[in-house]
Amino acid sequence: MNRDTSLRKGDSLELYTPHQPELIIVPTPEQVDQIAAQHVIEQVLGKQDLVLILPTGNTPIGMYDIIANAYAQGAVSFSKARIFNLDEYWPLPWGHPDSYFRYMQERFYTRTDIDSERYHIPHSHVNDPEFEAYLYETLLQKYGPADLAVVGIGPGLTCHIGFNEKGSAADSRTRLVELSEETIAENKKHFSRPEDMPRTALTMGIANILATKRVILLAKGEGKAAGIQRTLEGGIGADAPASFLRFHPNATFIMDRGATHLLSIKP
Ligand code: GLP
Repeated sequence: MNRDTSLRKGDSLELYTPHQPELIIVPTPEQVDQIAAQHVIEQVLGKQDLVLILPTGNTPIGMYDIIANAYAQGAVSFSKARIFNLDEYWPLPWGHPDSYFRYMQERFYTRTDIDSERYHIPHSHVNDPEFEAYLYETLLQKYGPADLAVVGIGPGLTCHIGFNEKGSAADSRTRLVELSEETIAENKKHFSRPEDMPRTALTMGIANILATKRVILLAKGEGKAAGIQRTLEGGIGADAPASFLRFHPNATFIMDRGATHLLSIKP
């Protein structure tokens, strides 16, 4: 479907027709990695100056490994691509080992030929997060809409995408957000010093994700099953932000069996 899906303030949700996302369900998490990496590689091979939105978390680690191997074998190049990260904790000192910037450095940026001028992530260390959000939004507008967004889904029933927690509106854009207690409890486990985990973050909004030409959601494991069921089988609304992806005309969910075992409709 050929239309601009970006939602602007004042737009009515009724204007946005739900679509059935494409569901790809595979037996193992490794197959999710493989298929996700293949999608990213195919897209960048088809369009060298691809604008990509990428996630962090445990889910995409395998995908990044496969992409890095493909680059090492000369099968793909990101030298002309442009990459935006979905989100970043705020505040954290520059280069904090648990920042998403460091994650991306280790998993992707230093393992491919992407130029440092061509990857963007909100700055975790700035004094004025509102201004940082404004700058990031300006960059997204300048280079967007992105060709492809790859997103994960938050823990449990948070159903967050990026750090768009419950209550995030369909027309939300880059901003500072408060993290939910559920997200804090889950994500602090990944901090070397859990007390360092910030309670706020900078995230692009739902409207930025919906404006992309294509969106892929990745979900692995039983811990995601309740969130996936709510996202795909409940109503579309801000109490399950991932459900807004059902307004996207070109959304694909790539999931393993664990993440889909609560779905009543098996494709
Ligand atoms: C964080 C990120 C999300 C990500 C989620 C899931 O909260 N902000 O973008 O999707 O983690 O993480 P995991 O893949 O580790 O389950």
